[in-house]
Amino acid sequence: MPRLTTLCLIILIGCSAVAQKYPNLAPTPPMGWNSWNIFHCDIDEWKVKAMADAMAANGMKDAGYQYVVIDDCWQVARDKDGYVIADSARFPSGIKALADYIHAKGLKFGIYSCAGRLTCQHRPGGAGYEAKDAQRYAEWGVDYLKYDWCNSDGLKSTVQYSTMRDALHRAGRPIVFSLCEWGSTKPWLWADTVGHLWRTTGDIRPRFFKHHGVLALFDAQAKIRKYNKPNAWNDPDMLEVGNEGLSFTESRAHFTLWCMMAAPLMSGNDLRAMQPDILKVLTNKLALKVNQDSLGLQCFLWKKEKGVEVWIKPLSESRYALCFLNRSGTSHNVDFNPVGTITDPDFHRQYTIDASYAGYDIWGDRFLNDPDRHIRGTVGAHDAMFVVLDKPSRADTRP
Ligand code: GLA
Repeated sequence: MPRLTTLCLIILIGCSAVAQKYPNLAPTPPMGWNSWNIFHCDIDEWKVKAMADAMAANGMKDAGYQYVVIDDCWQVARDKDGYVIADSARFPSGIKALADYIHAKGLKFGIYSCAGRLTCQHRPGGAGYEAKDAQRYAEWGVDYLKYDWCNSDGLKSTVQYSTMRDALHRAGRPIVFSLCEWGSTKPWLWADTVGHLWRTTGDIRPRFFKHHGVLALFDAQAKIRKYNKPNAWNDPDMLEVGNEGLSFTESRAHFTLWCMMAAPLMSGNDLRAMQPDILKVLTNKLALKVNQDSLGLQCFLWKKEKGVEVWIKPLSESRYALCFLNRSGTSHNVDFNPVGTITDPDFHRQYTIDASYAGYDIWGDRFLNDPDRHIRGTVGAHDAMFVVLDKPSRADTRP
């Protein structure tokens, strides 16, 4: 009998050593840049290096953006031993050299593959090749893997993604594992032991309204709010901030909402050709502090007020972020009294904001110090006013 117990223990320890994701790689939502939204398949090593150069030089790296991720189309075939081959015309120096370049800039390197047989652009997928791919990624110095779900007929998402998780773990390099099965098998119910983040919807489109626009993706997150937490993030998809299709205020509102949701912040614009106003939005310290708050709580709808929605995100140290979202085509005045007790709809907690709280308007870059503590301002069409509430005795409200 003791022998049997020892055997069981060995099996249990053996299994737990393998069946886990790398711990604590994403205690706050991952931040970086990904090639897909702006370049689609038109990527090469020169472009990706230029993005790393820009990120390191323009203030994004200092603000916390660290992953430079190449999405689909870097890979063309497998060799006779089953190892994946990169496109040698577009990546003549090889993937390892690209990773080294990005690391030398003090940034991290991410790559893309797919849990199906082929990627969404019909490049070699990972199904059946998990160990070989994970081994290569570790050798190349990959820090982040986005893993898609095209061409997966007959496969089971829980099995495919867990297989890759275990292969990554065996390969021995800590790699953030970003699941991308578009919410089709409800990853928020099972993936927190598998990956560090999971896409919750289909692909974002660079538009404010309509199917797969910014607001549609934002609205889809409310019902799964309670699953968002450190190292296990709901991912409403990468940013379209600064891309054609969104006005400046729409880009700013998009960024505000992703900060409020504690969503991963993977920029998706051309970092070489960014308008200064867009760079200011992406690197605003206080906005990022809201996104990166250690509690990792996603916002919830507090109230609807004369043309605007008031969303609230509880922050550490009893601070709060508020977002006044204006979906309409006309501007609205806000005159909002935040003092009161709010019941969290998902965690059965209460939050109390008393009259000692003072506000700071992030985009307006001003203190809200009306003696009656009301938050006053104008929110333009398709825009969001973004406010942090803190005790005035704490000096960190201002960036
Ligand atoms: C899917 C993903 C996108 C992108 C493309 C690449 O559509 O959801 O984010 O990675 O594949 O082919």
